[in-house]
Amino acid sequence: MNLVDPRIEEYTERMSSPHDPLLAELSEQTARELGQAGMLTGPVAGRFLELLVWIAQPRRVLEIGTFSGHSALAMAAALPEGGHIDACELDPVRAAFAQGWFDRSPHGSKITLHVGPAAETLASLDGDFDFVFIDADKDGYVSYYEAVVPRLAERGLIVADNTLAGGRVVDGNPAIARFNEHVAADPRTVQVLLSVRDGLTLIRRA
Ligand SMILES: C[S@@+](CC[C@H](N)C(=O)[O-])C[C@H]1O[C@@H](n2cnc3c(N)ncnc32)[C@H](O)[C@@H]1O
Repeated sequence: MNLVDPRIEEYTERMSSPHDPLLAELSEQTARELGQAGMLTGPVAGRFLELLVWIAQPRRVLEIGTFSGHSALAMAAALPEGGHIDACELDPVRAAFAQGWFDRSPHGSKITLHVGPAAETLASLDGDFDFVFIDADKDGYVSYYEAVVPRLAERGLIVADNTLAGGRVVDGNPAIARFNEHVAADPRTVQVLLSVRDGLTLIRRA
């Protein structure tokens, strides 16, 4: 289901800053070589992530689900001096593709890509996170959230993607509906579910 009229989607994109040329090229090549281009954050949500990072100025970012590297590079562009992203991707082919684009980007050196299950990577990393982007397997969202909330910095932000699941949350996408209900009932956090693209939920500590 298209959550927003395609003409409005096209308008929001046209009235936002243009897609970064490298990210546009990455998106085209993702579609050609990897397929499943619908998994990309895309130009508007990518800009939104970039602006959130620009506002929050996080030094330590965690990305759960990197795919071909679009969202990691969008966030990297706005990191403050010394800021760093740990990016997690399960699939070695996707990870190698993403790393190729990180190597081409002036911002790529700010990203360390970890290949393997995100839960294992997360357990191997020390310390707290200032900004976490959750965008991997939907069945894992609740456990990623539970692993990350205790490690979220005082002014940290979690952003979870696809939280409207193409509209299926209202008639029972079990994994995402379960995640949304879990977060909404959690007294430890404050959250807002925004109907940007496929739904983006912003979460902070209460
Ligand atoms: C929706 S895509 C990520 C899109 C990316 N954030 C972007 O905006 O371009 C989800 C990715 O999560 C990866 N993934 C799935 N399960 C995972 C896991 N357990 N650990 C790490 N990555 C996983 C998939 O291989 C896929 O590439």
